[in-house]
Amino acid sequence: MSTSIVALDIGTSKIAVIVGAITDDNEGIELIGHGISPSKGLQEGIIVNIDQATTAIAHAKKRAEDMIGGNIDSAFVGVSGKHISSCTADGRVRISRDMVSDTDLRRVKSSVLERLGLSDDVWVLHTLPKEYIVDSRRGIQDPRGMTGTFLDTLMHVITCDSNLVLNIEACLDRCQLKMDGVILEQYASAQAVLDNDELELGVCMIDIGHGTTDIAIFFKGALQHVFTMPIAGGTVTSDVAAYINVTKDQAELIKKEHGCALAKLAQSGEELFVPSTGGRPERKIERENLSRAIEMRYQEIFEVIKGVLEKNGYLQNLGAGIVLTGGGSRIEGLVDLAEEVFDRTARQGMPGGVASLHGELQRPDHATGIGLLNYAHRNAPDDKYGGNIINRTVRWVKSWYDQSF
Ligand SMILES: Nc1ncnc2c1ncn2[C@@H]1O[C@H](COP(=O)(O)OP(=O)(O)OP(=O)(O)O)[C@@H](O)[C@H]1O
Ligand SMILES: [Mg+2]
Repeated sequence: MSTSIVALDIGTSKIAVIVGAITDDNEGIELIGHGISPSKGLQEGIIVNIDQATTAIAHAKKRAEDMIGGNIDSAFVGVSGKHISSCTADGRVRISRDMVSDTDLRRVKSSVLERLGLSDDVWVLHTLPKEYIVDSRRGIQDPRGMTGTFLDTLMHVITCDSNLVLNIEACLDRCQLKMDGVILEQYASAQAVLDNDELELGVCMIDIGHGTTDIAIFFKGALQHVFTMPIAGGTVTSDVAAYINVTKDQAELIKKEHGCALAKLAQSGEELFVPSTGGRPERKIERENLSRAIEMRYQEIFEVIKGVLEKNGYLQNLGAGIVLTGGGSRIEGLVDLAEEVFDRTARQGMPGGVASLHGELQRPDHATGIGLLNYAHRNAPDDKYGGNIINRTVRWVKSWYDQSF
């Protein structure tokens, strides 16, 4: 049997366990199973109740195991939420033996982290080189084999509060799951929905989930900036509930079935019936009015993001515009609204990069889960594939994980 990779997307609205098998030629991943369960114990992307989150993860895991007919004992996990920080930092080392080696890359990364002087309660998620500089030669992506005296780097360092990761680990532990790696959710989503040209030309990817909207900005092929907002699809649902006086569950259904993020697209005079309380008959509301309430919230999300893009000078670098993903991007009219607000081209980002993607996984809701698989596959050394499926000891992942984080 082939080697497998398991992704665990712990979202505010759903937990997804997605299993991929490495193809025989090691070139790709084929989906072989998944399990999805409603989420519990999360708020704004963060675990707030370990018992509830554990139960939900265990359900999703069991469903995936039933589908693949085997046990799952480890997974790559996404992390998101307000305790994420990112910064660009530099580092410098003298090149050993006059030629840049893998060891020098590791040393220069350590020098970046040393200079940052991070405390123990900070977990380093990613150290992503923006460029290397060998003596005065700038803009180098891979300096290995180059000769020189000093190796400098500018790195994007993404960190989070260690407790976020420890809480995830506690849930996984109770589900008899080991953590193969922990990856920033929007960085994972980007692996599934963006192509290389977009990364090069400049793109802002916006993953609108239920509890958080996660943003990642790329240009010149590198991640430039990430941030997360606690306003997302769940906020839109609450707005709808308040606007038409229905419960959140009812509002969720109405939003998904009739919602539109650009009120002028819903101007046809279309009406819909919504439930009333206390045995009263259903009420009639105009779809345009419902859509106006929805538009206001999505517009607010986009305006906040635009403010960050402008403040940091990124807006003029977005040659490939805006890519919207996450479940909250499924609403009608959102691409048009994004084009209006950002004055850039926009598209919806569907997950890709893996074979046999079909059914419910073929939706933007699963950008993070599919992205976790892509990330794990792309970042693991080639010679590490081998051995046994699901129940294997994931030694290769561990060694890569230790090196990379
Ligand atoms: N057709 C639709 N129209 C509008 N919103 C939708 C639609 N389908 C799904 N959503 C919204 O998408 C959100 C769920 O998206 P997603 O599954 O990406 O979130 P999550 O991963 O669980 O949460 P998070 O990433 O914020 O922790 C919900 O708020 C849901 O209402
Ligand atoms: Mg999500």
